This record gives sequence, C-alpha cells and structure tokens, in this order.
Amino acid sequence: MDPIINAVLKPKSIAVIGASTNPEKIGYKVVENLKNCGYQNPVYPINPGAEEILGYKCYPNIKDVPYVIDAAVITVPAKFVPEVVRDAGEKGVKGLSIITSGFSEVGDVALENEVVSIAHEYGMRIIGPNIIGVLSNSDNMNASFTNFLPLDGKAALVSQSGALLIAMDAATYTRRVGFDKMISIGNQADLDFADLIAYLNEDENTTCITLYIEGIKNGARFMEEARKCTKPIIALKAGTSAHGAAAAASHTGSLAGSAKVYEAAFQQAGVSQAEDLNDMFDTTLALALQPTMKGDNLLIVTNGGGVGVLATDAAEKYGLPLKFAPEEVQAELRKHMPSFGSAKNPVDITGGAGLEGYYEGVKYAYAHPWVDGLAVLYCETSVTNPQEIAEAIYNSIQESGATGKPVAVSFIGGERCEAAMKWLIEHDIPTYNAPDLAVKALASLRKQNEMLATSHNAPYKPTDVDGAKAREIIAAARAKGRDALIEVEAKHVFAAYNLPVTPTELAKTEEEAIQLANQIGYPVVMKIVSPDILHKSDAGAVKVNLKSDDDVRNAWKVIMENSLKYKADAEIDGMAVQQMAPWSTEVIVGSVNDSTFGPTLMFGLGGIFVEVMKDVTFKVAPIDENTALNMQSEIKASKILKGARGETPRDQKALANVLAHYSYMIYDLKDEIAESDANPVIVYEDGKGVAVVDARIILTKK
Ligand code: COA
Repeated sequence: MDPIINAVLKPKSIAVIGASTNPEKIGYKVVENLKNCGYQNPVYPINPGAEEILGYKCYPNIKDVPYVIDAAVITVPAKFVPEVVRDAGEKGVKGLSIITSGFSEVGDVALENEVVSIAHEYGMRIIGPNIIGVLSNSDNMNASFTNFLPLDGKAALVSQSGALLIAMDAATYTRRVGFDKMISIGNQADLDFADLIAYLNEDENTTCITLYIEGIKNGARFMEEARKCTKPIIALKAGTSAHGAAAAASHTGSLAGSAKVYEAAFQQAGVSQAEDLNDMFDTTLALALQPTMKGDNLLIVTNGGGVGVLATDAAEKYGLPLKFAPEEVQAELRKHMPSFGSAKNPVDITGGAGLEGYYEGVKYAYAHPWVDGLAVLYCETSVTNPQEIAEAIYNSIQESGATGKPVAVSFIGGERCEAAMKWLIEHDIPTYNAPDLAVKALASLRKQNEMLATSHNAPYKPTDVDGAKAREIIAAARAKGRDALIEVEAKHVFAAYNLPVTPTELAKTEEEAIQLANQIGYPVVMKIVSPDILHKSDAGAVKVNLKSDDDVRNAWKVIMENSLKYKADAEIDGMAVQQMAPWSTEVIVGSVNDSTFGPTLMFGLGGIFVEVMKDVTFKVAPIDENTALNMQSEIKASKILKGARGETPRDQKALANVLAHYSYMIYDLKDEIAESDANPVIVYEDGKGVAVVDARIILTKK
C-alpha cells in the first residue's frame, strides 16, 4: 500500500490550511465536519488571524505546529496555494487534498503544474485540486465540505465530479447503498484513478470500487491497474458522445469515438460499465456485497408467476437465459410447494407460500451444486409478513452450508416491504424493488466473473513478426516526405506482421507490369499508384480480372488515360499489380490511435454493414486470439460469420489470427501508425483462410 496515499486517506493528523472562523466559509466547514463526524486524531487549523477554531488551537503557519502532520487540506484561494504547499513540504507533510478551484479547469495549467512540482520536490502527493475532499467511515473522517459521512458500507467511490459526490453522499441513505470511502479527485493533477484503484485494491475496508469518470488521463495505466485489481470495479462514464470523428482521415477513424473505445477498454480491463446513475448504485450494491457468479445457472424462486416471468425476461435480456433445473432439483423443490406450483425455473412456490416454502426452497436451491446464482422474488401477500420472509431467506442461506455464490432479492410491495428490504441489505443481501433489477445484479456478477477470467492475461506478443522490416519501409516513406504509405508499402508492412496479404508489387512500366503479373499468376488486378489520386475507382484507375498479357497491356493504357483525364498533372509512380483474390465474405479491420487508450483495433463486416449500419466493434490493442474470436461475436451481423441460413461457417479461427496479429502490429508500431485499414479482408469458408486485399496506413506526424 502506498504510504503517501495512505497518509492522505487515513491520516493520523490533519492540518486545514485556510481554516476560517467564519461559518460561511469552506475553511470553517472542513474543520466543523472533521469535528462533528468524530475524527479522533489531531486537527490543526492554520490561519494567520485566529487563535482557535471550534475548540482547536489555531496556528498562523503550518510550520509553527510543533507536532508531526500527515496530511493537509488546503482551502486558501488559488494564488496562495503554491506558497502554502511549499510551507507544508517544509513542515514534512506527506500528502495534500487541495479543495481550491481555479487551476486547469479554468485554463490555468501553469499554476496547477507549479503546485504539483512544488509538492513533488518534497515527496508529497496531491488529491485534486478542485475537489470536495475525502470522506471515510472507517476513520470517522469527513475532510470535506459536504456535511455528513455516507451510509456506512463496503464500497469506495472515486468521483471526478464534486457536485455529484455531494449528491451521492446524501443519496446513499435513500438508496441504501453503503460506502466506506468517498474520494473527490477533481482535476487529477497528480493522483489519478489508476493510483486510487491500486490503493483501494489493498484497502481492507473496500470490497468494490465505484468510479464516476469524465475523462481518464493515462488510459494504459488505468487499464494496467484495473487489470491488477482483484476487487470488482464499476465505472459510470459521462460524456459518451463521439469526438474527433470529423477530423479523422481514415474509415476507422470516422467510426471510432471515445465512448466505444472506453467501453472496450473497460471490458478488457474487467471494469463493469454502468448505464446510468441508478445502474451505478444498483450494481455497486451487488458487487460490494456478493461474490461473483462462477457459472451460468441462474435459479429464480418466486411466490408470484408474473414477477417470475418479468425476471425470466430480464435474465434473457441481460445475458443469463434461464435453463430448467435438473429433475432431482425439481423433485426436491416440489416437496415445498402446493401441487399447483412449478418447480421448473422460475420456481413458483405460489402466492400461498409461507415461511416454510421460502426457507426450505431457498436453502435447498442455494446449496445445490447446479445453482450458480439465486434470485429470490417476493410479492407482498395478505398471508405473509415481509420481515419474516426476509429473515427466512437470510437464515436459509446462512444455514444452507454453501458459500461463494451470489444471491439477489426483490421485494415488491408497500412500506412493510421497504423495511424488510432495508433489513436484508443490512445483512449483506442486495435487495431491489423490481424483479428485473435483482436479475440484472446477478448478471453483473456473472459478467464480472467472465471479465476477470481474461483481464489478468499477459499482453499478447506473437513471435512470427518482423518489426524491424516494417520500420525500414516506414522510414523510407518518411524519407520521401510522405505521411501515408502507398498500398504496396502498406501491404509489405502488413506482411512483416504475418498478415495474409494478397501479393502486390509496384510496376513502373508496362513491361514490368506484365512480368509481375506472370510472377504473381493470373488473374490479377491493376491500380494506379499516385499521391494525387486517392479515390482510384472514381477515376477509372482500377481494372480487375485481367487474365493475360494482352489484358495487362490494355489495362495499362486505359488506366493511364483515365488517370490523366482525372488529373492532368497527376504525379504517377506506376501501377500496383496484385493477385486477384476470389470473392467471399468481406470484413473490415482497422485502427486508430486513441488519445486516451492508444492503438485501438476496429472490426466489422464490410459493405453495407460498416457503411450504413456502422456495425463495428473495438478493442484496445494488443488482443489475443481468444479475445479476437469474442470480438467477432460482438457485432450484430456475427451470424453471417457463423454460417447463417445453412451457409458454411467462415474461417473464424484464421480471422482471429489476423485480428490478433493486426492488433500487435498497431501496438508495436504505435509511434508510427496513426490510423490504418485493411478493407476489405476476405474471409473464406472454415479451414480456407483469409486474404487481406487492400491496405492503408496513415503515419503519425513527426
Ligand atoms: N495561510 C493560512 N490561511 C490563509 C492564508 C494562508 N497563507 N491565506 C489566506 N488564509 C485564510 C484567509 O484569511 C481566510 O480565513 P478568514 O476567513 O479567517 O479570513 C481563509 O484562509 C480563506 O481565504 P479567503 O480569502 O476568505 O477565501 P474563501 O474562503 O472565500 O475561498 C476557497 C477559498 C478555496 C474556498 C475558494 O478559493 C475556492 O476555490 N472555492 C471553490 C472550492 C470548490 O468548490 N471546490 C470543489 C469544486 S467541485
């Protein structure tokens, strides 16, 4: 555990620099909150004009305090912050929370950098600036200007928005989602999400880390720490509209957007992404209180057929479709329900079910090895008491003898149900007021388990690649002053990463074209190579299916004429002669260098699927072949690859190999490749491989 971060989040003493005697001021509020929330360690208000504040002796300067100080909370105006940070450094303070606003968020990056560099000079770390402060139930510490600590619990919230943190602090009581810590990180000038994930992973009072994110500064570090984290992380990402699309030069660039890349990065790093604030609270409740779900067998026990159906629908919607329970499970459950109940799944113990039905049914089901996760639903009835049902559910799980699998509950009814739900949550059972939410919570626990299974894998690194050769080709193009490769060069780079490109060579003369066509083997395709003609087909500068030397001679003449008609002074390097691949299913593979997460791979089906439907998916590079196979299932049209309507499945394994190698190429060459496309890539029948027909690489600006 980082001792400096620990000093800010669990300080043994706190100075408040800018503490005030004026109850209207933030500097007063922080001292008042520390006092009122029961912080037990010494508090030293610092203010040049006051003797004491709220019973604490006040010092004119932090350097005047004759005791050791772990952390300082800063509430002086921005222009005084550098000076007081230096004082704190000289005093030997370990870490700082800077509440003050007026730094990079209003454009004053220089002031912010100055403050960080002074802090680092003294080995101090900073949370903030521009924050509400830090709250921790386990230390009764409210070092913030929001009035009270959150409902006590096992989650930790790290929020980039201060206002939202204040609102969530209050909402923890109405939502009944408990947090041990709430940390406002503001501008992340120094400590960022990655640092706090690493810290909270080792914090004994945290079981689940909840993040409210507007932007991540260093995507690679975020992913690295999230991957290392053994506790569930849930993130709500604000600002999901696409950005930068218009400026993007390649096809992939226009399809990428920060939202999709964030989504991919979260999934790859094992972070559950919340849809909205409600979902963030609901999922936090489940992830904080329950273990992950190790298999797909979800069993639903209900006293109401209707809510059972709603839960069944939700199970399918959230990726956990119900299966009938095995016969032995059904036979045992039947013993605890009237003859008109149903023991299949959902298990309907019927409206007449009382304590015994819930107790025995849940106890047996929870303990049975077939069941990986249990949803228990209850509709309030006139013959049952919700509190007694809640206790029966709790006791049945406690007494089942089983552990390590999740349960989620839904109570639907009035005030008595509300009270019973509160009781269940206090006993660590996530309970919701709608059946779909209980099922969704279990689906999140299942997804979390699946993500954790792959997120810890070592990064993919193939051995059958020749990065040096690719760099030589790129260097030669740069030497000619180009910032994009011509197709022939791009294909050679692809080939260096063992991508199955169709052979393509540059012919400078008609005779060379004939020679190359014979080497490659007929039929061939010919295209103009000119920096002035980017849309070759529009210019009539592509000829396909050339079967003989005469065809090549004719094509040379026609392409040359058309090109000069298109642009009379076009600079012409020659013509690309390439093997004509037989046609089959077209896909597109491409990449962008995302400003947050770096090289990012895109995949989709070609033609209308990509142009009109924008049916594409992203992964932060590199990815291994398993991830590449999963990636193929993520697009809506994935059935086409799997063999829709009796067609033979496509060679998904070979495609996975291409995706994985491509991802490694863009990762390895991240300093060189800004954007790239392989469009189209032809995927043949299973076992018959893949051909990369066209290649495009746009270089980074140097
Ligand atoms: N050492 C110690 N105390 C100092 C000081 C120094 N070098 N310089 C000033 N002070 C004292 C002041 O005398 C004052 O105390 P007083 O009321 O007893 O006179 C106190 O620090 C605060 O200074 P003041 O000038 O009154 O500022 P303020 O309270 O109006 O505002 C901030 C200070 C930090 C609250 C304000 O600048 C700010 O940033 N507000 C926004 C904070 C925020 O919303 N953050 C979260 C965003 S999500």
